[in-house]
Formats: sequence, structure tokens, C-alpha cells
Amino acid sequence: MSRQWTLPTASGQYVVSLLPDSSGLVLDHWGATIDDGVEPWSEPDRRDQYRLPADAAPLEFATAGQRHVGFSELLIDRGDSLTGAAWHCSDPDGSSVEVIRADGRTALAVSFEDERGELRLTLRVATDDLHDVVRRSIRLDNISDARTVTLPRAFSAGWALPVGQTATVRYLAGRWAEEFTPKSIDLDWGTFSIGSRAGVTGLAFSPVVSVASRLQGRENEAYGVALAWSGSWRLQAEATSSGDRVRVSCGLDDDTTTITLLPGETFDSPESLGTWSASGVEGVTQAWHTYQRSTLARSLDPYFRPIVYNSWFATEFDVRIEHQLQLAEIARQLDVEIFVVDDGWFAGRNDDTAGLGDWRPDPVKFPDGLRPLADQVIARGMRFGLWIEPEAVNADSDLFREHPNWVYRAEGRPLVTVRNQYVLDLGRDEVVDWVEQTFREVLSSAPITYIKWDMNRPVSDGGRPGDPHGRQWSLQHTAGYYRVLRTIREEFPHVVMETCGAGGGRVDNGSLALSDVFWPSDETGPRDRLAIQHGYLSAYPAYAMSSWITDDPGLRDRSAVSFEFRFVVAMAGALGVGADLLGWTPDQVKRAAELIALYRELRPVIHTGTVRRHGLPSDDTYAVEYASPADGSGRLVVLVYDHNRDRTRDRERVRVRPAGLVPTTRYSLRGTDLVVSGQSAATLGVVVPFALAVDADILVFDPVT
Ligand code: GLA
Repeated sequence: MSRQWTLPTASGQYVVSLLPDSSGLVLDHWGATIDDGVEPWSEPDRRDQYRLPADAAPLEFATAGQRHVGFSELLIDRGDSLTGAAWHCSDPDGSSVEVIRADGRTALAVSFEDERGELRLTLRVATDDLHDVVRRSIRLDNISDARTVTLPRAFSAGWALPVGQTATVRYLAGRWAEEFTPKSIDLDWGTFSIGSRAGVTGLAFSPVVSVASRLQGRENEAYGVALAWSGSWRLQAEATSSGDRVRVSCGLDDDTTTITLLPGETFDSPESLGTWSASGVEGVTQAWHTYQRSTLARSLDPYFRPIVYNSWFATEFDVRIEHQLQLAEIARQLDVEIFVVDDGWFAGRNDDTAGLGDWRPDPVKFPDGLRPLADQVIARGMRFGLWIEPEAVNADSDLFREHPNWVYRAEGRPLVTVRNQYVLDLGRDEVVDWVEQTFREVLSSAPITYIKWDMNRPVSDGGRPGDPHGRQWSLQHTAGYYRVLRTIREEFPHVVMETCGAGGGRVDNGSLALSDVFWPSDETGPRDRLAIQHGYLSAYPAYAMSSWITDDPGLRDRSAVSFEFRFVVAMAGALGVGADLLGWTPDQVKRAAELIALYRELRPVIHTGTVRRHGLPSDDTYAVEYASPADGSGRLVVLVYDHNRDRTRDRERVRVRPAGLVPTTRYSLRGTDLVVSGQSAATLGVVVPFALAVDADILVFDPVT
């Protein structure tokens, strides 16, 4: 008889058990593998009678009715005075519940029924030998014949993190052009909450936190929790006076989303991801990256992250074939791999007031369609790509004139406009069908192998008055978005998908599973961008971090940097070029071609290596290293950014200490005579030669054979 289940991860384990009364699952252990087994959690003797056992239990998932006082991940409204549910396991002694293991993957599903036999709750947990991420979600079935239930809150998971009663919570906050700013809070007893009500992941917060113990000597015990979801969401961390855990709960946003389950209907939650590390928040970062590289990326082949030229900064809406070809000609000299036309190519689009929705080439700009431009780009040795914003529509468009009822609107209220556009209701099947058909037509009209999918505004007045499921519009919208992404992947597998939401508004692990690369921010000023990339890399992978070199000085830190510094910023992920190439001097073009060639050589290390950030972008010297790439070369690359161009100081002192070298192996530093052991480099550091530029360098360490 099994009442406890162990799910192994790459370097630890996740252990849960059924409560003695079979009313729920509790987390017994999450961390390093314990060889001699783990005691199932049991209720301690309490002197304090003011606390109910369910409040202190480290429940995997709490429902109001099961838990009476503490926070619950699930609220149920049955339309009568009975709210919530009390569960009993469908298999009370747990004898038929087994962890399923196949191909290195482990999965557990435990089902419960409520006291009235109306609802079935299934808790799902999955792990994999390839990484340390635990994936969790719930399913709720309405098994009644006649009762409709609504769920004012239907989160994906509660994580009872064994860090002690308080913790340091680190998160990423921001706004347009300032995404992914690292923030932290020392959480004492109380609740901390972040989220999005925008119908998209949003620019304000990213759905991921790390939680580190504040207990003396245990600061390196850290956990990460994320929600793999691209719609409205909420994540909260709660530290209470009961128990010895900090609870992180997350799921669909409960301010704006109410799920309705008619008899026979099912709700499947998004996945929440959790990870554990014994090496602090840095270990959590690496655990996310390992998961993303090993599992979320469909491939790490450079085909899916080509070196892009995007003409947006050079032309904005003024898209003309001749002009685009002039840019393409220089892009060819740079040996860029794909030429992407951004906004402005489609019917009626000369500024942001018109055209969204009419996804056919503008008849004036492209009298013979896109093919002539695409063919000439391809003739220059590049691939061809396009920008699109399929969820948006301008009032001044044929689509809106034909289908004014396809947009989100609240009856009797004025339509809310942002950037002159409305949002299409992807909760309607006919709208999602239309979006899919639009992609089929666009992608078949020319040899297009790259799409930048944008979403430039939050949803307002989401919902469909009169529709019983109208209050779950955010869930439906995101399901529609995912459906289209899946269709494109299936029908056009050669098309690379870049996800953008007015910059980084759609960066999350849900989008990442179905796209290849993110546009993390519209900010391309080098020093501002570096700060954004630093935050981004704490939770998201380098391979998906699209980054262009442009001419833009930036919005905040406009301090002068070299041309090379700008390049090294853009090389930290998936390099692109977004500058007005017609304004570059021949020397700049030549230098850029050299740097792009260097990047192409180093790309496998940057995309598949272990990322470690050294210091902060605001420090005098900041560096990002990439170690142990998948190609087995043992190569390590360090990108160095120097903020202090005052060369009267002692340049010998600028050192980096790469941590990912094998201590006993000797390495040569490219371009120098230096041969150094991994241990020496990590301990004493290596002097940065600044061979590339006065304020930036690229160090390449190769094992000496
Ligand atoms: C958004 C994107 C930009 C660009 C413009 C085009 O702002 O983030 O990169 O594509 O839209 O309108």
C-alpha cells in the first residue's frame, strides 16, 4: 500500500504523500535525494488550538472547504450556500495510484472527489531526469448531472517551500522599455502578490520568482516558482505564523477570471513550474536554463535563431521595396542570415492608425505582392521574414468594418483604444479560425521563414456578456493564441517564431514552449539594454534572447559606448541588427561583418552553454560567461562590459573570474599567449586585455590539448 510517492529530478527528488484522512496531498520533501527515505508529514502536537490542522499542513493544493482559514488555491461557488469542497481520495488507501516512469520521465496523478460526488479534482506532478524542474497542474471535472459550478479562483499549484517561516523573494518588474528589473523583498509574515490583468503576460511583472531561505546558514537553499502562461496571471508568496514554510501559489488571475463548469465540463489549469537548488538563486537560474534548453526548445540548431536584420528602426512605417533592398544589400555584406520586414508592409499601413487586421501586402507598396522582395532578399543569400500583430485591429481596417463584433467590448461602454487599436476576441472559434487562415495565406504567399508576432496593448473589457463562459476570456484568449502557434508549428515547421508584446510583454515559459525566440524589449540603447538582459537572463534562456544592435542611444543611461560594446550587448543572446545600415560608414560595415563572423563562430557556446552573470551591469566591470556548450568543445566565452572608460586607472586590475572552467584543465586565451588552469582563472582571475575595444571584450578560452 503506497501513500507516499517519490518523483526524481536530475539532482534531487520531490516527495509527496496522502494525508492520513485521504483528504489531500502534502509535500514531504523537495531537495537533495535522501537515501534512507523520508518520513511522511504528520500533524505535530500543537498547543495553539486557534489553528486548524489544514492551515498548517503543507498541502500541495488547498481548496476552500478543505482549508478553512488559510489561503486556498481553489474557490468553488456552486450557486447555493455551500462553497468550496471537502475532498477524499478516489482511491483512499492509495493502492492503485502509481508514479509512472518512462524514458526518464516520471508522472503522478492523484484524484479526489468532493463530498457530494459533483466534482473530481486531479493533482498532476511530473519530473524528468534531464532537469530539476517539477511541473504541476490541476484538472477539475464537473461530474454532476445538473449542477453548474463557477470557480472564482482556480490556481495551478501551491508550493509549500521548506525554507522556514520567512524568505527573500526575488522577482522581475518593469514597464515598457524597462522590462525585467530585478527586485526583492524580505517577506516576513504577510502576503506578496504580483500578476497581470492585461490578458497577456504583461510588462509589469514576469511570472517567476525565486525564494531563498533567510535562516542562518541555509541561505543557499533556494526555490524557483514560475507559471508557464501567457495570459492574465497571479503569483503570491505568503509567510504565516503557522507551519514552517513559505507558500507560493500561482495560476490564472483571480481578479479578472472566473471559470464556469457546466455539467460534464472540465478545466485544465496552466502548468506551474518549480525548481530547487542547493546553490542559491544562481542555481535556480541555471535550473531554469537547463529545463528550457533540454525540454522547451524544439531545437538548439542555429536555423531557429538566425542572425536577423530587422528594418523597423531604419524605416518605421515607410516600407518601400527599393529602400528595403538597399538595406538588404548591406545586410548581405554583413552576412546576416535573415531579413525581416517589420510593421508597415500590409494594406493601408502608413502609420499606427490604420491597417491592422488587413494582412495582405499593401497594394501601393507591393503591387506584385511580397514575393518580388522576398525573392531578391533570398537571391542575396538571406532568408525572409515578416512582422505581424494578428490579435489586433484598427478601426480603420476592412476587418473591423466587416466584423465589428469580433473585438472585446463591454456593451454600452465606449471601446477602449490603445495605440489606435482594439483586441480581437480569441475566445471565439471563428476568430481563431480566421487567424490561422490568415497565417496560412501569408506564409504561402512568399518564401517566409520567420515571423515576429507582436501584441501591442493590454486587453480591456475582456469578456462576452451573455456567454456563460465569458468571464474566462483570458483563459480562452491564451488558449487561442497557443492553438495558432501549434498550428503554425505543425503546418509550417520551417517558420521561426519570435514572440513580442510591445517588447517583453509575452516572455514566459508558456510562450517559450511554442516559439523560438523572444523580443525582450524595445529598448536597444546599449547600457539600458544590458540591464534588461541581466534581469531577463535570471529566469529566461540566452538562446531565446533576441537582441539587435541599433543606433539608438537609449532612454535612460545614454553614456557613450563604443560600436563594439553595442555589438557585445547584442551578442549575449540571439544577435540581430536593427540599425539604419545606410547611415553606417564603410568602416562600420566592415567591422560589423567581422563581429558577426565572430558571433557566428561563438553562437553554439552562447546558445547552449551554462550562463553565469558576474556582477551588475551598473558595476565598473560586468561580465556574462557561457560554459560547457553542448558541442563538447569545452570552450568558454566571457562577454565583458566595462563602464569605466577612464584609462588613467590601472588597467591591470580589470579581471574576470570565469567559474565554469574545469579546475584541472589548462586553457589558452584566444589572441594572447596566456595559458591558465581553470582553477587559477576562477581564483586569481584573468586580466581583460580589452583587445576588442576600450570598453568591451570577448574572451574565448579553449582547452589546451
Ligand atoms: C512594437 C514592437 C516593435 C515594433 C513595433 C512596430 O512596439 O515592440 O519592435 O515591431 O511594435 O509597430
